[in-house]
This record gives sequence, structure tokens and C-alpha cells, in this order.
Amino acid sequence: MTTPSTLADIDRLYAAQGGLTYGEGVTQMEHALQCAALAEADGAAASLVVAALLHDVGHLFEDEAEALRIDDHHELSGAEVLGGLFGAAVVQPVALHVAAKRYLCFTEPGYFDALSAASKASLRLQGGPFDAAQAAIFESQPYWREALALRRYDDTGKSEVSSGRTFADFAPLMEGLIEEAAWAAGRTRLDQQYDEAPKAGLSRASSTLAPDASEGDILDEAARVTQPR
Ligand SMILES: [Fe+2]
Repeated sequence: MTTPSTLADIDRLYAAQGGLTYGEGVTQMEHALQCAALAEADGAAASLVVAALLHDVGHLFEDEAEALRIDDHHELSGAEVLGGLFGAAVVQPVALHVAAKRYLCFTEPGYFDALSAASKASLRLQGGPFDAAQAAIFESQPYWREALALRRYDDTGKSEVSSGRTFADFAPLMEGLIEEAAWAAGRTRLDQQYDEAPKAGLSRASSTLAPDASEGDILDEAARVTQPR
């Protein structure tokens, strides 16, 4: 299975592997749809709805029997995959959704007891409940609150009653966020060009640019002076 680099790749991945169950009473596809539907009903941001939909994508790359036996860190492999397409608001809650379970086991009486049998079993493999120091570190992570919300959807989205939703329902949301992330990455590249321009001896004062040069002119000049000679 190759790493998805487009929305079509993600579609194909869920179509091919979404039937796995990982010891739960629902398939990965139905679990994903239920989690996304719960986030949507909760009024969550688009990024969190998509994080809920794709939070277990790391599972789709593993051997199911093996994953039930060892801690495969599917949250990290999933975040890595999603990092090629989405921004931090999607990626971080996914990366933290296992830590969120360990955090809630420490902070919330009764949370552990309400987990599914499969979730209790995987908790052992994942290192068990956090202690106070680990919980404090968790609270210092960006998007930790979103990760807690995602965890609630994850724990609830295991109903035997179908969500009635399809993966395609969430395509426009995913598409919008992929475009947003691509635009932000392009913006970062432009900012880097601005940063590199002075290092290359370019400034409004010292360059051949007119004092009222436009941003486009400055970028053109930056590209010219930073060209290898
Ligand atoms: Fe999950």
C-alpha cells in the first residue's frame, strides 16, 4: 500500500482496507464515519471532523493480527501520512488521540471502565494511564483539547447501528482542507524567499529595485540574486 498523496488515494485506501475491525464491533470504515458524524453533530470545526474521520488511518497500513499483539503507534504513522496532505489542526489531534485516552484514564474517574474491551486491551500495550507528570506534558501540546474531543468521538463511534453516511459525504471538507494546507505551504515558501533575500544582499535600499517596488518585483529580484551562478 503506497502512502496517500491525494484525496483519491485516501478514498482508495478506505475502500480497500475499511473492512478491518481490530477487535471492535464495527468496521474501520463505519467507525470512521460514525466518529466524523459525531464531530459534525457536535458543531466541531471542519479540521476536527476530518481528523475524526481519518484518525485511525495508520491502522489501515498494518497487519491486523500483529496490531492486536503489539503497540504499533498507529496514531503516529497515521499523523505522518496525513501530514503530507493536511495542516496541524487535522494532524495533531490524530497524533494525540492515543495519548488522550491515557490522559483521560488518569484524570477522569470511570473513564477506563467505560472503554470497550478492545480499547482496554490496547491501553495496556500503549503504556497504560498517564501519571501527573505525563498529563502535564500532554496539556502543553498544541491541539490537546481537540485531541480530547476526538477521543470522545472515537470511544462513542462504535455503534452497531449504521451512521447512514458515506465517505463521499466528507469529500468536500477534505478537499477544502487539502487546498488550504497547500496554500499555507506555498505562503511559507514565499516567506522563506523574503527571509533569504536580505541574506543574499538584497534590500529595498541596496538593490536595483525602486523604493516603491511591488512585492512581486521583490520576489522576482530575490529569485534572481539567489540563483546559483
Ligand atoms: Fe478509533
